[in-house]
Amino acid sequence: MGITKSIYGVNKDGAEVTKYTLKNKNGIEVSFIDSGAVITNIIVPDRDGVFEDIALGYNSIAQYEASVTYFGAPIGRYANRISGAKFVLNGKEYKLDQNDSTNCLHSGNLQYSCCMYNTEYNEDEDKIIFSRHSPDGEQGFPGNFDYSITYTLDNDNRLIIEYKAICDKDTIVNFTNHSYFNLGKGGHKCPDVLGQEVQIEADYYTPVNDILVPTGELKELAGTALDFREFKKLKDGIGKADAYGNIVTGYDYNFALRGDGKEGVKRAAQLRDSSTGRIMEMYTDLPGMQLFTANDMDIDNCKDGVHYGNFCGACFESQNFPNAINTEGFPDAVLKAGEQFKSTTIFCFKTF
Ligand code: GAL
Repeated sequence: MGITKSIYGVNKDGAEVTKYTLKNKNGIEVSFIDSGAVITNIIVPDRDGVFEDIALGYNSIAQYEASVTYFGAPIGRYANRISGAKFVLNGKEYKLDQNDSTNCLHSGNLQYSCCMYNTEYNEDEDKIIFSRHSPDGEQGFPGNFDYSITYTLDNDNRLIIEYKAICDKDTIVNFTNHSYFNLGKGGHKCPDVLGQEVQIEADYYTPVNDILVPTGELKELAGTALDFREFKKLKDGIGKADAYGNIVTGYDYNFALRGDGKEGVKRAAQLRDSSTGRIMEMYTDLPGMQLFTANDMDIDNCKDGVHYGNFCGACFESQNFPNAINTEGFPDAVLKAGEQFKSTTIFCFKTF
């Protein structure tokens, strides 16, 4: 139990970056840096009690600042794609960065995961709170936006992530966390997650066009490569067809989670590895989850000197549906001026 602090490095502006580590009574450790409120390490046991780091990451702050892989990153103000990099709110058009074809992806060039955060912590509760003020117009979004990301590690091996925000104008919001997990032997050093099994609490997904913008439909996933209603190895879906007969070469899809969104936090997905016996369960109160399997990755000298290649990790990004602000029928993405935004996602670590 408790929190330890160490110096992680110095950021591009010359500010010292601190690494914080929470440890629970079962020996599980999760580390964060105040540059970006990024999750840098998640150290969990396998079924024989071998502790390994299952979160992908970098070696240095410079690598985090230069990257667009979002390892361990909280993403805001609006995760995933916004088509045409623009939206209209209260009759006014807002323009964002086009950093993904003509879309805005993960809010554009200024990443929340590269900004410095104020840090508070509570050692007794194994809780750390990163907060920040995002000024009116930052990333192109309206309103002064004050937000916090609270991480708690409890003794049930749950990493609880709580997002809170308030804005002085109507704005749009969609937080996620972009951690990549690999539960295999060696944890993040394990070459790929293809033999690991995924289960998702969804019967529908949101099909996309050729630049990954949802068409607005919900498509049934039964019998397709996206059918994870029962545990399935990731490699058993790759090479199979989606609902339109297109071959899936890797996963980068939003799943519409079961329920009407009013049930509160519920289980959304699981990842497990039969060789290590590790399981990760993800719970959320959000309507969607993007499964992303690091489809085009080729990066040298990452954390512990490791090279990350294709399928080296899987992300379970709880979120609103992509481009919800521009898509009729998708869940509401607007945060009204003065109203408190709150959302919770939990990653829970077990063995079998
Ligand atoms: C995911 C997104 C992918 C890719 C990735 C970052 O959230 O769905 O298409 O952009 O982030 O490399």
